Amino acid sequence: MAGPAEASARKRASDEPHPTGDERFSLIDKALRKARFQQDQLIEVLHAAQEVFGYLSDEVLLYVARALRLPRSRVYGVATFYHLFTREPLGEHSCSVCTGTACFVKGADAIIDALRREHGVGPGETTEDKRFSLTTTRCIGACSLAPLVVIDDDVLGHLTVEEAVKRVAAMLDAEPTPAEVP
Ligand code: FES
Repeated sequence: MAGPAEASARKRASDEPHPTGDERFSLIDKALRKARFQQDQLIEVLHAAQEVFGYLSDEVLLYVARALRLPRSRVYGVATFYHLFTREPLGEHSCSVCTGTACFVKGADAIIDALRREHGVGPGETTEDKRFSLTTTRCIGACSLAPLVVIDDDVLGHLTVEEAVKRVAAMLDAEPTPAEVP
């Protein structure tokens, strides 16, 4: 039987606003309802939560754990195991590399490795100055463009490793760092 905390989370997922007033939780509720609160839909729900919040905070993980009646350790374990998920807020700019099958075959890994070498961050990480985050995404349904990279809001296809590195550098050079602003 569900305890009071779980019952409360499930009730919120049906008709009450989150106590913080953060309306983004209602979008997680929507994903939970779509998943019919099935525990085996955890990855789908976390994916939806990350799309809404940009990353998976402790608060979000706890909310999902309660709503799905899963142990917190299980939800944290999944959120930290998959590169697909990030536990930190994204930086000012981001580059998301698709690691779906078509993009993987066409060299997504090499792009990730090159960006890691260039900026010192791996998937799910943000540079210390908070200017750049590297993330990965699942197939976004544009496989004919593989390998596909999303730099900020720009969806770019057929990128070579060199082009991807250049585009990210251009994005970061496009505006001065705070230290350069007079
Ligand atoms: S595999 Fe990358 S868009 Fe489909």
